[in-house]
Amino acid sequence: MRTDSSPQTIFRKDYLPPSYLVDTVELGFDLDPARTIVANRVTLRHNPLSKSRDIVLHGEELELVQLRMNGKPLQAGQYELNGNTLTIRKAPLAVVLEIETLTAPAKNTTLSGLYVSNGNFFTQCEAEGFRRITYFPDRPDVMAKYTVMLRADKALYPVLLSNGNLVEQGELDDGRHYAKWEDPFKKPSYLFALVAARLVCQEERYTLQSGREVLLQVWVEEGNLDKTDYAMQSLKNSIRWDEERFGLELDLDRFMIVAVGDFNMGAMENKGLNIFNTKFVLANPRVATDVDYAGIEAVVGHEYFHNWTGNRVTCRDWFQLSLKEGLTVFRDQEFSADMIGTDSGRAVTRIDQVRTLRQAQFPEDAGPMAHPVRPDSFVEINNFYTVTIYEKGAEVVRMYQTLVGRDGFRKGMDLYFARHDGQAVECDDFRAAMADANGRDLSQFERWYSQAGTPVVRAETRYDAAAKTFDITLRQHCAASADQQQLPFHIPVAVGLLGADGRDLPLKTDAQDRQGHATVVLELRREEQTFRFHDIAERPTPSILRDFSAPVVLEYDYSDAELLHLFSHDSDPVNRWEAGQRLAMARLLKLTAAVAAGAPLTLDDTFIAAQRALLVDDSLDPAFRELALILPSETIIAERMAVVEPQAIHTARQFMRRTLAAALKPELLAQYHANQTPGAYSPDALSAGKRALKNLALAYLLIAPREAELALARRQFAEAGNMTDRAAALVALIHSGSDAGAHLHSFYQDFEQEALVVDKWFAMQAAAPGTDVAAVRQLMEHPAFTLKNPNRARSLIFNFTNGNPSQFHAADGSAYEFWAEHVIKLDALNPQVAARLARSMDRWRRYTPALQAHMQRALERVAAHARLSNDVLEVVSKALAGAQ
Ligand code: TRP
Ligand code: ZN
Repeated sequence: MRTDSSPQTIFRKDYLPPSYLVDTVELGFDLDPARTIVANRVTLRHNPLSKSRDIVLHGEELELVQLRMNGKPLQAGQYELNGNTLTIRKAPLAVVLEIETLTAPAKNTTLSGLYVSNGNFFTQCEAEGFRRITYFPDRPDVMAKYTVMLRADKALYPVLLSNGNLVEQGELDDGRHYAKWEDPFKKPSYLFALVAARLVCQEERYTLQSGREVLLQVWVEEGNLDKTDYAMQSLKNSIRWDEERFGLELDLDRFMIVAVGDFNMGAMENKGLNIFNTKFVLANPRVATDVDYAGIEAVVGHEYFHNWTGNRVTCRDWFQLSLKEGLTVFRDQEFSADMIGTDSGRAVTRIDQVRTLRQAQFPEDAGPMAHPVRPDSFVEINNFYTVTIYEKGAEVVRMYQTLVGRDGFRKGMDLYFARHDGQAVECDDFRAAMADANGRDLSQFERWYSQAGTPVVRAETRYDAAAKTFDITLRQHCAASADQQQLPFHIPVAVGLLGADGRDLPLKTDAQDRQGHATVVLELRREEQTFRFHDIAERPTPSILRDFSAPVVLEYDYSDAELLHLFSHDSDPVNRWEAGQRLAMARLLKLTAAVAAGAPLTLDDTFIAAQRALLVDDSLDPAFRELALILPSETIIAERMAVVEPQAIHTARQFMRRTLAAALKPELLAQYHANQTPGAYSPDALSAGKRALKNLALAYLLIAPREAELALARRQFAEAGNMTDRAAALVALIHSGSDAGAHLHSFYQDFEQEALVVDKWFAMQAAAPGTDVAAVRQLMEHPAFTLKNPNRARSLIFNFTNGNPSQFHAADGSAYEFWAEHVIKLDALNPQVAARLARSMDRWRRYTPALQAHMQRALERVAAHARLSNDVLEVVSKALAGAQ
């Protein structure tokens, strides 16, 4: 909660080095849910880079019991306790502080700092949670060595874990025991962690490529030991992959993953002790879907890869967050792609990344919370763990690889570690390593870090039949934001040219290198540039921005014929998919306009035929076909409209789905049967792709079902051997409106003991087109619903506000009232989660005047609430103030 009157904005330009550095931290915990005593002995030394001799410590919601400096108790007048900082002025050059504080973990509903989840103790310190455990210079550029002594009741908390190595353990009086842990590596406070719990583990000794043996553990509650295999396998794959691709070895003898049911985010990379949301650890075929399995692989990889990109080399300040997050997302994306191993599998992961960017990052970059990959200011850092920092940040890292090549990228990484191991650095240091290792001038590339917004690249082409040249002119612009004039970006634009037979033409450009390739990377640096291709015998169809080589919007006046050509032939699967999306989007926008105007709706046979041809093309990966058949989402359509009318979008998209379903019925049915995956469940990409295509077919078949289609779904629901198929059948039945109630009931009965499946049960109802706000309110009355558990709150509320646009934007504004009410309620419990929900209103100014009026009222209601966290206050005030 806010303690002072108005929230402070923190600016990157105000960075000052810490006045004191910390060498060692010795922490002692006497763990008790109601009253935990934390003893902190910290050795500090003046930082020669700082002019100040004041020691500044952060602390939040702590009760200070004792403070000693160099052995002597400090009296009230010898330090200042002001809000959330404790300052000792004019301190000696070398200082030992002994600080004793009290906290109440059981009352900590924020899930930041030390808290209790299902009777067990956990910590979450990123970004600024360590200050809720003890007074400390809680900033990432203060790196220290930690020793941790844990004491707790042995029966209640048989397992005591912290970072690094276990060096001692034993019994104490009164049924208590202790464990002492030592982390051999310097680390910032945000990487501290402890767990004191009743848990069990799957463990394994694993031999690194160097021959060194390490101990790997996955810790879960007892009933979940049958769900740890995939996380363990993913961890071993991650370790091997980082050795092979980047030459990076696990630097500890022991590496632990712990699952917790109450968690604000996906997982956390604490040194040697990764703490995970159960959602990204627990899986077996009965309870987890293919998407869950893929999520586990990606997140286990992500947190493991942080050990080098984040932990060994960390961030100087939180403005540099993307230094570790963008890079680590890129690494986990590459890991997941390499695990599939095929080119088409790799393309499918790439298409998924593009979808996420368009669904979430482009809107963010155009809305009131838009910020550069390296922000210049923030009020609450927790609000900046965004798709821009993570996903756009990963795109920025990917562009280096596109510009300097895979080998060049590896050289840059090697130089980055050679220069900065053990340091807290800036995004600029990473860019410098990439530039220096490759002898490249990447100064203009800096704008990807400093300028917000999605650049638009407009392409025009000119074919000269006599000269046999083909010119592509690229013009870039990026809407200036309120406080920023945009300068041209350095944009890699991968291009191929298709001949009339659909094959790639060998490319000959003015540049001397890379002649004869099917794809060349054009480097757009100026506002406008023309690139010439030679010896082009016929007018080609350009395939621009292959593999989505830059996070931009590409505008080109493709004819339908050109798009159909690309959709059936492009050798670049991403652009092949993209051509289909363009064909669909053009029609969806027309249909939406027709709905709004009350005009008749039609869909052309050409489009239907193209969809049919793709659906039945068995030479294509089923996973690719599934993606190519998914129509642009209602959110993505909305982003393309000047004034958003959610009901019209929904009606238009439903019309297209219904028309396709009716026209393609025999083919859909054939694909449904052809893509069955009998036998034991395996989450591999090929099987998952078949299930995805089969279940897409099922969803289409159930749009206007006859008894035969309903029987298919009922049978799949009853007989499915895995959660992917069971859940897909249930969703199809819910959407069809046919006996959904009975199936929902039986599903709940079967899985009520499985929290993650109950989350799915809420989520699928929240996102169903028939679920209005009254139905959501009723679901909140269900005994299994609670606002205190983030996964549960998200499953129902977020899936409604973000995943069910036509109901959320009900004309009477009733769902906005619901939103306001729950932002306020959640804020009192957990500001981080509340602020995420607050973001559902980001794009409010783009809706019809009537909806806008309702949304503004709801936003103002939240903003006017008396005790609001900085988290929510920042989001709603930016929404109300923003011009977009
Ligand atoms: N660093 C974590 C990751 O990306 C993110 C994270 C986990 C986090 N828990 C958090 C960020 C709590 C803010 C608050 O893997
Ligand atoms: Zn991360």
